[in-house]
Amino acid sequence: MPQDVRDDGRDDDDACAACDDAFPDAFPRDRRAFLRDAAVAVAAALLGLGASPHDAWARPLAFVPARRARGGGPRYPVPAQDGASIDRDNEVILVRWEGAAYAFNLACPHQNTALRWMERDRRFQCPKHKSRYRPDGGFIEGRATRGMDRFALRRDGAEIEVDLDVLYRQDRDPSGWSSAVLRL
Ligand code: FES
Repeated sequence: MPQDVRDDGRDDDDACAACDDAFPDAFPRDRRAFLRDAAVAVAAALLGLGASPHDAWARPLAFVPARRARGGGPRYPVPAQDGASIDRDNEVILVRWEGAAYAFNLACPHQNTALRWMERDRRFQCPKHKSRYRPDGGFIEGRATRGMDRFALRRDGAEIEVDLDVLYRQDRDPSGWSSAVLRL
């Protein structure tokens, strides 16, 4: 299988020099803290609208913890419905969409800003330069020049295992990128 190891998404020329300006307290020095704070903000907003705590966290923008099998990659339950979940610890976006599953790198392929899922529009958008992507990671418009980077993944019973060491860039390995899909 062609492999494109994770560091290809972190090339020096991909470094987001301006990200510190956009997220001075969060990215890239402490992106996880940023995500945690964002999650709290979303929950607080939903609660302010009268949603119960359960409703808040049951929204399609969910934060899903991974289970680690010995020696393997992170594992997640197969999503029951279309939507996007984020594993903030491993910086993985897990998507179920129209009968398929995908595992994306959280970082925008343009300059590594953490992507956001826009539930209302059912697409991803980068907060930095507004690049937009379909739920399958396909590029729509913006400064990026490729789709969202996809991790290799496989199904094991009721779980999906993601290989964090195999990351496909659409421009460098289009066939690998196209094959990083799990049909459900
Ligand atoms: S960082 Fe530039 S479009 Fe995402």
